[in-house]
Amino acid sequence: LFAGPCDFVKGVVAMSGLPDPDRPEICFAGRSNVGKSSLINALTGRKSLARASNTPGRTQEINYFALGPAFYLVDLPGYGYANAPLSKVEQWQKLLKQYLAGRQTLRRAFVLVDARHGIKSVDEEIMSLLDTSAVTFQCVLTKADKMKAGDGVLDQVRSRLAKHPAAYPELVLTSSEKGDGIATLRAIVASLL
Ligand code: GTP
Ligand code: MG
Repeated sequence: LFAGPCDFVKGVVAMSGLPDPDRPEICFAGRSNVGKSSLINALTGRKSLARASNTPGRTQEINYFALGPAFYLVDLPGYGYANAPLSKVEQWQKLLKQYLAGRQTLRRAFVLVDARHGIKSVDEEIMSLLDTSAVTFQCVLTKADKMKAGDGVLDQVRSRLAKHPAAYPELVLTSSEKGDGIATLRAIVASLL
């Protein structure tokens, strides 16, 4: 699946702009700057397929990528603090929630959490929305290269996830920078096709 091409399809700013629901898709959600776009680049082995940057609020549209002819990868705008005008942020947050709650072909949401920081209240809010909408989600820890052993983050994440009925219990620890966990995540994605 990841050996073939992956191409940008479109950026979506309203539910009416979503591509036809003609194939399964997965999405990457998480706080601004957590590393969603970087993870898509690491998974697809492309340096700048999805635009990443150090400015929180980089991705402002729902970006669709076709992974071969039968699967979509979806890069979402972040939630939480963003370096962008409030009216714009409110607009994309609303779209993000509508998308997560209402996309029929969404097979699994990957909720990215910074391995240094653990699950925050904004993450809880999104996870509860996914519970209510019965969208299975899986937590992916990012920036594992910056993680400090013994800081309790893994335990915090596991105990918080246990309270969410829609959470898939297996955690994936990744580093887009160093490549840790990327092969594992590819295998998980491929199993969802
Ligand atoms: P928004 O689109 O703003 O919501 O952010 P995003 O979640 O798409 O984050 P993005 O991929 O743009 O990455 C944010 C910053 O984190 C960039 O400076 C990346 O280089 C950095 N980053 C992403 N993944 C990793 C990682 O695995 N390790 C380290 N050290 N830095 C990372
Ligand atoms: Mg992004």
